[in-house]
Amino acid sequence: RTVYLNGEYVPENEAQVSIFDRGFLMADGVYEVTSVLGGKLIDFAGHAKRLERSLGELDIQKPAAFDDLLDIHRELVTRNDITDGMIYLQITRGAPDDRDFVYPDPETTKPTVVLFTQNKPGLADSPAAKVGIKVISIEDQRWARRDIKTVQLLYPSMAKMAAKAAGKDDAWMVEDGMVTEGSSNNAYIVKGNTIITRHLGNEILHGITRAAVLRFAREAQMTVEERSFTIAEAQEADEAFITSASTFVMPVVEIDDKQIGDGKPGSIAPRLREIYLDESR
Ligand code: PDD
Repeated sequence: RTVYLNGEYVPENEAQVSIFDRGFLMADGVYEVTSVLGGKLIDFAGHAKRLERSLGELDIQKPAAFDDLLDIHRELVTRNDITDGMIYLQITRGAPDDRDFVYPDPETTKPTVVLFTQNKPGLADSPAAKVGIKVISIEDQRWARRDIKTVQLLYPSMAKMAAKAAGKDDAWMVEDGMVTEGSSNNAYIVKGNTIITRHLGNEILHGITRAAVLRFAREAQMTVEERSFTIAEAQEADEAFITSASTFVMPVVEIDDKQIGDGKPGSIAPRLREIYLDESR
């Protein structure tokens, strides 16, 4: 694989980052994941916009390469011959000379910019989309600024591991009795013709796929309610699903051992998936 590091395209085993990088020592960095279908980047503009916002919220300077990010994404797709897959981008505050809680001087310490590709042939034809996934619920113990896409992913990893240990696929996180989101995706329930998903705020990541899917749902004459819901309400819903750049729209057929509907993907989530994939490709 060829990866991008601070202005250079290098083989992955030659890419080196300092041990003092604040991404490594302090999770002081942000990331984006953009999917590629048929060689085409999906919703790059949305990811770039959220990246800019994440950097701004953390006072990380925009790297010199910021305006070239689209070209860098395209170059990596070409060099690594990606038809279907993902591009991971990470920007950290950079590597000062020593460990220190105080931010380094942005004049001397420049952000570290890393991009790499993940080849996933047939990404959109995932077998899981046909049968749906099973989730558990778990207390949301992340920090309070989940609207910033930081690389601080330990708790989401723990949540995912708890799901795996229970023999399930993923976890929906719950705060004050209400579902926030999935470990790495936004969470939805469906009642009749109405799509319900948590309102935006600091409590969840503002998904790029979420924005697109809600737009398509409204265009398809579905009703959208942006409000929080409980696990109990979700278990009684007609359907449930998640969205993210890597799963698109994925039906959820079980929550905490309780089957949703008849335990098979319903009609709305698969339809939204189809619309999303059609519109994106
Ligand atoms: N995760 N919520 C969380 C906590 C996420 O980590 C993600 C994305 C989403 C969905 O956002 P989007 O639709 O913009 O991908 C929601 C990425 C895919 C990841 O961490 O791999």
